[in-house]
Amino acid sequence: MGIIKKYREYLPVTKKTPIISLNEGNTPLIRAEYIEKLIGGNVEVYLKHEGLNPTASFKDRGMTLAVSKAVENASNAVMCASTGNTSASASAYAARAKIKCVVLIPKDAIALGKLAQALIHGAQVIAVKGNFDECLNLARVITDKYPITLVNSLNPHRIEGQKTGAFEICDSLGSAPDYHAIPVGNAGNITAYWKGYKEYKEKGKIDTLPKMIGFQAEGASPIVKGHIVKNPKTVATAIKIGNPASWKKAEAARDESGGLIGVVTDREILAAYKLLASKEGVFVEPASAASVAGVLKQAKKGYFKRGKLRIVCVLTGHGLKDPNRAIASVKKPKVVVGKLQAIVREIGF
Ligand code: F0G
Repeated sequence: MGIIKKYREYLPVTKKTPIISLNEGNTPLIRAEYIEKLIGGNVEVYLKHEGLNPTASFKDRGMTLAVSKAVENASNAVMCASTGNTSASASAYAARAKIKCVVLIPKDAIALGKLAQALIHGAQVIAVKGNFDECLNLARVITDKYPITLVNSLNPHRIEGQKTGAFEICDSLGSAPDYHAIPVGNAGNITAYWKGYKEYKEKGKIDTLPKMIGFQAEGASPIVKGHIVKNPKTVATAIKIGNPASWKKAEAARDESGGLIGVVTDREILAAYKLLASKEGVFVEPASAASVAGVLKQAKKGYFKRGKLRIVCVLTGHGLKDPNRAIASVKKPKVVVGKLQAIVREIGF
C-alpha cells in the first residue's frame, strides 16, 4: 500500500483523485547500534532508510501525490529542476501516469544512477549549463507561463506527501523521537517532516515534538551563513544548493522546534558515508550521510541532553545512486590469477 492509501485522511485527496502509486513509503527504521556506542550514554539511534523507496529516495512520497494531483487537474505534463533524485522520481511516476516529464539538471553535476533513471523512464532530460538554483528559476518561469505542472517541492503536494515520513516514524516508535536529524538542500524535506510531526500532535497521535536538527554541506550552506551561496560546492551533489526554495520554512522548523541547522564538511560527510556502509551495513548516498555526520558532530560537542533519548536520522537516498563516489572512496579490488593457491594466499590462510 502506498502513502496515499495509508494516510488518506491526512492528505488532500478525494474520491476523484486518481492514485498514481508505486507502493512508496513504509520504509524501515533501523536501529544503529554502532553509532549508539560511538555517542555513548543512554541514546537510541534509528536510521529511517528512505533509499528503500521505489526510485530509491524519499522523493517518491511527495511525487505520488504531486503526480496524482496533476492528473486529477487534467495536466498532461510535469516538470522539475533537480540535483537528480527529484528527476528520477518524477520520471517514474510520470511514466506510470502516462504523461510527459521534462527535467532540467545541472550539466555534469548529478550522480550517474539518477541520470540513468530519468533517461530509462523516458523523461525529456535537458542538461543545463548552470547550477541547480539556475535550473529551478528556469523551471519556475516555464511552468508559470506554459501548461506544465511544476513538481519541485514548491508544489505543496510534494510537502504533503513527504510529511508521511514523520507519521511512519511516530507509528513505529509509538511516540515522537527527541531529535530528528535530516540533510538540508532545497529545504523541502525538513519543512515536510516538521509539518507531519505538528499534525500528528494536533490529532493527538503523539504528545511531544522532536527538535529538528538539519545539516547542510559546508560549501553549500546558505541557511547557516545567512546569505545566498552563488557557487555551491560539495561532494554531496544532491544538496549542492545555494538558494533553497523553502529557506524560511526550514528556519521556522528549526526555531519552532528549538533545534538547529548546522554544517558538516565533505570530509565529515564521507566519513559518515563509509561508517554507515562498513559498520551498520547501510549503503546511502553522500548527501544522506549528512544527517549522521551532523549527529556525530553534535554529540562530540556535548549538544545532546543527558538521559534516555531517541534520535532519528533520515537517510534520504540509496548508495547505488552514486556508484562513482563509492568506488572513489575505497581501494580497488586486487587482481589475482584464477588459481586456488594464489587466492587462498591472498585471503591469508
Ligand atoms: N538528500 C538527498 C538524497 C536529496 O536528493 C535531497 C534533495 C536532499 C537530501 C535534500 O532535501 O531539498 O528537501 O532539503 N534533492 C533535490 C533533488 C534537490 O533535486 O533531487 P531537500
